[in-house]
Amino acid sequence: MTNINEMFSSIAHRYDLLNRLLSMGMDKYWRRVAVDQIKLMPGEKYIDVAAGTGDMAIEMVRKRVAGIHVAAVDFSQNMIDFGGGKIKKMHFESMIKFHLADGENLPFEDNSFNSAVCAFGVRNFSDQSKGIKEMRRVIKENGRVVILEFSKPENRFFRFLYYLYFKKMLPLIGGLISGRFSAYRYLPDSVLNFYSQEELKLVMKKAGLRKINYFTLTFGIVTVHTGYK
Ligand SMILES: C[S@@+](CC[C@H](N)C(=O)[O-])C[C@H]1O[C@@H](n2cnc3c(N)ncnc32)[C@H](O)[C@@H]1O
Repeated sequence: MTNINEMFSSIAHRYDLLNRLLSMGMDKYWRRVAVDQIKLMPGEKYIDVAAGTGDMAIEMVRKRVAGIHVAAVDFSQNMIDFGGGKIKKMHFESMIKFHLADGENLPFEDNSFNSAVCAFGVRNFSDQSKGIKEMRRVIKENGRVVILEFSKPENRFFRFLYYLYFKKMLPLIGGLISGRFSAYRYLPDSVLNFYSQEELKLVMKKAGLRKINYFTLTFGIVTVHTGYK
C-alpha cells in the first residue's frame, strides 16, 4: 500500500496533464459518463473514493445541482494538494472537501452518503473486496456505487493496435514527462492483471451490492460498473 501511495505522490505534479495527453482527452468524457450514472439531487452528499486530484468530484459539481457536497478521499497527500489548488481556482471549495484517508478504511459512519464513485482507483486497492465493501457501507440504502476502470478491449484487431500504444508508447511518454518510468509501466501491468468485467461484477456482488450492471466505452478501453446498496 505504501508503494502505491508513494508512486502516486511522485507523479501528482504531472498527473492531470498526463491523463489528458495519454487518453487524448477521453478521460474527461469517461468520467462524465460515469458520473451520469448517479441522479444527483439537490442537497445530497456523495463520496469520490481514490479521488486523486478530484476530477470525478469536479464532474459532479459541474452538473450545477444545488447544494451538493462531495467528499473526495485519497491517501496521497500530494494528489490532494494538487486537487485542492485546482478546486480553489475553480471556486468549488464549498462543494468539494478533500480527506486524506485510506479507501479501504473510510473514516465515515455507515450510511453517510447518497452514492459513491471511484474512477481508476479500485484496481490499485490492496484488497478490492474490502474497498468496495467500504463504499457500500458508507452509502445509504438504495444508493449507487459507480466504478470506472480500465478494461481489455474485446475486438482482436483493435486490441492489437491499442496494446502497441498502451504497453509500449504510453509507458515511455508517461515516464519521460513524469520522470517516473515505473509508474507508467505499472499502469498497463496493473490493467492486464486486473479482473475481467464479469469477475469484478462478482466481487461487487459478494461485497453485498445488488442489480450490478456494466457497460464499456471507447471499444472497451474502459468499463463502468454500477451496483445498488
Ligand atoms: C489512477 S488515480 C485516479 C484518480 C482519480 N479518481 C481520477 O479519476 O483521476 C488513483 C488514485 O487512487 C489513490 N489510491 C490508491 N489506493 C488508495 C487507497 N487504498 N486509499 C485511498 N486512495 C487510494 C491514489 O493515491 C491515486 O490518487
